[in-house]
Amino acid sequence: MKKIFSGIQPSGTLTLGNYLGAMKHFVTLQEENECYFCVVDEHAITVPQDRLELRQNIKSLAALYIASGIDPDKSVLFIQSEVPAHTQLGWMLQTVSYIGELERMTQFKDKSKGKEAVSAGLLTYPPLMAADILLYQTDIVPVGEDQKQHLELTRDLAQRFNNRYNDIFTIPEISIPKVGARIMSLQEPTKKMSKSDDNQKASILMLDTEKQIEKKIKSAVTDSDGIVKFDKENKPGISNLMTIYASCTGESIEQLEAKYEGKGYGDFKQDAANAVIDTLRPIQQKYHELMESEELDMLLDKGAEKANFVANKMLAKAKKAMGLGRVKKKK
Ligand code: TYM
Repeated sequence: MKKIFSGIQPSGTLTLGNYLGAMKHFVTLQEENECYFCVVDEHAITVPQDRLELRQNIKSLAALYIASGIDPDKSVLFIQSEVPAHTQLGWMLQTVSYIGELERMTQFKDKSKGKEAVSAGLLTYPPLMAADILLYQTDIVPVGEDQKQHLELTRDLAQRFNNRYNDIFTIPEISIPKVGARIMSLQEPTKKMSKSDDNQKASILMLDTEKQIEKKIKSAVTDSDGIVKFDKENKPGISNLMTIYASCTGESIEQLEAKYEGKGYGDFKQDAANAVIDTLRPIQQKYHELMESEELDMLLDKGAEKANFVANKMLAKAKKAMGLGRVKKKK
């Protein structure tokens, strides 16, 4: 049984990209592994957040995890800020991180571009992410493609710590899905679909209504040759919709190409919209039930308790390896 860890930021309503690139795979992985899934709220505050909106997004993300199929009896589901070991180990890992390697992170460059005031937290975000992962002796981290660089850094930091202090951290492997690892914007299909896109037509949100989903897919940017064929370079828009469609139904890209041979984009887009709607409908139903019940708080309390237990043991090992605190004499 492998140990799995992954996290999602509560920085807005999740997109279909978050679901197809990450969450959907968590559900399968929990069947045969020891899984930890986290609402990484301390990551979200690296950019300014409205207090009440953040609270709401944290609860909403926890509900979406469960509504998507995360079973709290099989997986540990918890909120990062309720397990203090994350920031404690995060600090310790900052001391083995180099400023140069943090400045090279694409996400840091993207999020700080053109901003006058950039928080130090935005720069030191990756060692906190490394702490999230390393606290649970994680073997595998399922994520979308955009997290690859952070995962490589996590491996480097773990190795550096192990060499410098003591060999305590498991070096995690990254797992990226074959289809759906990078869902693109519907309006600019060479850019990834993102929670923080200002153009509302660019992203499908997991809580969008059926009408909104249909409208967004129908107005998705494609090319003018009218042939349903996968070609990321020359036909990025239609290729992205094919990826979305294939990820939702489980059909292969080749099957879709055959199915729509001789048909135009109109039919294809309608069916793609239906595939997304059918995928999200049961999740949305469960989500609304959960948001109205008391169950969620109880489940998150249980998750925090389990996560604290495991994380504190690893934190104690790391402190011992670094020489922090005291060694108490046995009486
Ligand atoms: P976040 O919150 O941006 O995204 C959550 C997950 O969704 C994936 N994802 C996508 N996959 C496919 N297509 C897209 N357009 C798309 N957009 C997002 C992301 O790759 C991710 O798997 N730093 C992380 C959160 C984090 C974390 C961790 C992840 C904090 N600690 C420890 C794993 C392990 C982030 O910002 O993800």
